[in-house]
Amino acid sequence: MINIDNYKTKLTSLLSFRMLFEKNRSSVSMNIDNLKVSWECPSNIALVKYWGKKEEQLPLNPSLSFSLKKAHTRTTVTIKPREMKRLNFRFEGEESSFAHRVDQYLDKLSIDLSWINDYSFYFESENTFPHSAGIASSASAFGSFGLCMADINHKITGKKADNEQFLHEASRLARLGSGSACRSVYPGFAWWGKSSAYKGSTDCFALHVNKIHDIYSDMCDAVLIISSDRKKISSSAGHALMNDHLYREIRIRQANSNAIELYQLLKAPDHQRFFEIIENEALTLHALMMSSMPSFILLKEESLKIMDKIRMYREDTGIQIGFTMDAGPNIHLLYFREDQRKVHQFIESELKDLLEEGKWLDDRIGEGPVRLI
Ligand code: PMV
Repeated sequence: MINIDNYKTKLTSLLSFRMLFEKNRSSVSMNIDNLKVSWECPSNIALVKYWGKKEEQLPLNPSLSFSLKKAHTRTTVTIKPREMKRLNFRFEGEESSFAHRVDQYLDKLSIDLSWINDYSFYFESENTFPHSAGIASSASAFGSFGLCMADINHKITGKKADNEQFLHEASRLARLGSGSACRSVYPGFAWWGKSSAYKGSTDCFALHVNKIHDIYSDMCDAVLIISSDRKKISSSAGHALMNDHLYREIRIRQANSNAIELYQLLKAPDHQRFFEIIENEALTLHALMMSSMPSFILLKEESLKIMDKIRMYREDTGIQIGFTMDAGPNIHLLYFREDQRKVHQFIESELKDLLEEGKWLDDRIGEGPVRLI
């Protein structure tokens, strides 16, 4: 197991996060010409997948996810009066090719936030998890950027917002960088996408899912690394495969129905059905990629073996575990806290040999973003 506890993590509960937020909101002294904000934001794992988009990063279907506890990006943004160069971006202290994407992101934001063109931006970003660990780093990165930019926007415009409105705005700004990032600005579970079954839902930003059953607030996620190679297909190219996909309409119906049912299960648990739905979502995501034109096979032999072993273990022991995946070969093994010891034993004895250098990350549901300064 990779001990990502060694990476300094700084989390607070939702309550203390809110208190921290309030405290800082009132104590900020503003020098707009040299303003600095800093946020830490988690990555998230989707249980119902966002796959396919329309217009400006709007989803074809609703998705449902939870934020992770240990996998975070921390970003500090300083703004200064406009210099020749608009963006200085450093990742873990080094120049990075990701700067190009951040520059495009500022272009997108400037359509809405006209003050962006008056400033130069100094971004310093770092992750609390290893590179290429099979964790969506764009979700935590753009989540932290969305929070920083919403924060700056409030300071520059003097706009008043309560915590909820602030997070909605941060979610909307995060979405413009990476769709799934809009779900990362919340603790626990988040819903993104318009649905008549979810009050107040919209395609523009995600919502925090509250009042879930206690058992789900302790969900654990072992990220099993099968390959840390770069993705074979970018996520934009992946979403584009849905534009003319033969199964597009049926997929939209399926995702809507899975999202609504899973949302209800979060309030009234039925573990068997819960894992049926999330596995159906993960396998559908890959089936859609395999049946696209052009087609992509991202699963590896080890991915299939592990899925099979997880199902066998569940059947043999009655312990409630299941899997999900992103658009890659790595497996997120989900289980409940009360089974942690047994599940860790299972990973060590049955799955470890199938993993890249035996690597896996021990993560779980987290408490959401933290303002750092
Ligand atoms: O946010 P993007 O464009 O990287 O897309 C993420 C897509 C999936 O991870 C496969 C599913 C999801 O909902 O997170």
